[in-house]
Amino acid sequence: MATHDKGVTTRSEEVIRKHKEYLWPAVTNYYQHPLVADHGSMQYLWDVEGNKYLDFFGGIVTVGLGHCNPKVTSKIKTQVDKLQHTSTLFPNETIVALAEKLAQITPGKLQKSFFTSSGTEANEAAILLARMAGPSYDIVALRHAYAGGSALAKSVTAQAPWRKSGVIGVGVSHAVNPYCYRCPLHLKYPECGVACASDVENLIQTGTSGSIAAFIAEPIQGVGGFITPPPEYFKIVYRIVKNYGGLFISDEVQTGFGRTGRKWFGIEQWEVIPDIITCAKSMGNGVPVGATITTSELAGKFQGLTISTFGGNPVTSVAARAVIEVIEVEHLLENTHVVGGYFRAKLEELKGKYPLIGDVRGMGMMQALELVRDRQTKEPAPSEASQLMERARDNGLLIGKGGLYGNVIRMAPPMNITKADVDEGIRLLDKSFAEIPA
Ligand SMILES: Cc1ncc(COP(=O)(O)O)c(C=O)c1O
Repeated sequence: MATHDKGVTTRSEEVIRKHKEYLWPAVTNYYQHPLVADHGSMQYLWDVEGNKYLDFFGGIVTVGLGHCNPKVTSKIKTQVDKLQHTSTLFPNETIVALAEKLAQITPGKLQKSFFTSSGTEANEAAILLARMAGPSYDIVALRHAYAGGSALAKSVTAQAPWRKSGVIGVGVSHAVNPYCYRCPLHLKYPECGVACASDVENLIQTGTSGSIAAFIAEPIQGVGGFITPPPEYFKIVYRIVKNYGGLFISDEVQTGFGRTGRKWFGIEQWEVIPDIITCAKSMGNGVPVGATITTSELAGKFQGLTISTFGGNPVTSVAARAVIEVIEVEHLLENTHVVGGYFRAKLEELKGKYPLIGDVRGMGMMQALELVRDRQTKEPAPSEASQLMERARDNGLLIGKGGLYGNVIRMAPPMNITKADVDEGIRLLDKSFAEIPA
């Protein structure tokens, strides 16, 4: 592993300077000296100085099969030379091949897809459909949620930094989330009886018109800091949602396509069959593609017309179809479960070593460490999280951050890594923790 020199060279300085000059400052970069990426190959990324990094964040939980995975890029390249764009005005083989495959891998009777270029649009389409199909306009979401960057998606999002001026939250109410480590009801699982789930009923009775169009949630809250509910939570909520006429929307933008291990979708871990699934991010391993998948009956309830110009584009459709094929052929649902479990056990060992780690959570290749200054008070440790990221970067490991308090280390390595990669990642993480001043 190359030594990572903080003295920035002209090439990266130039990129950083132009980034500051020509891009919106709201789009922030990681690190004191941003990492100027040059190229990637599978689990590795290189910066313009030639430093090599083991990438355990994959472009924000997106590069699920490794950077520039040739089994995906070869198909993209062929398609780019054959046909790039037609719009959905003309059906083509690539869009139907992907939609047919999604109908096979999604649970229940989810069978019809609407394609987009992002997770935001996928969630927009889901909520729009639910409002057209349901008994009311009301949507129930969860606190600490993240649903995207449009005005509607931001109104579902429930973390202040992502909800500044311009967000109109009419018709969206937020239930307390199943955040066991910091229980919003100050209870303890399992004696709590999963009271946070029952709160959804109280919210519908008090904060909505009494019936709802939909409940929308991430099976594991991503940007929120990989907040993982107790196993009963979604089953209880599902029953409540149905009692009040609502659809259940599973936002699988981070959990989708096998990230949690053994199952294609995160909600399957909680034994719930949703009415609508939205996905994006690692669905295309780096190309912009999203989908809103629902039943034939519900899809038929969309009123009027809709379109996403790039949705179902031949290139992105081929990429997403290739991603599914690689996951199937290389048995990556199983690998994610096995190697993810191994990763989790190693992270638990680190918790035994470093008091800074208050909680380890997640599933499969989606694992987080919540950092706290004191395990009793659980005071969040955001500056320590930033320091850890800097140390890890210098040691050649890329990790992510999240959580309302900016104190959660998020890791989402590619689903095809081995136990040896985990060992290396853990070694670098261990070294990085050891370098943080007490
Ligand atoms: C759970 C979830 N939903 C939706 C989105 C929005 O996706 P996009 O950024 O592709 O619009 C994100 C993005 O981070 C997400 O994590």
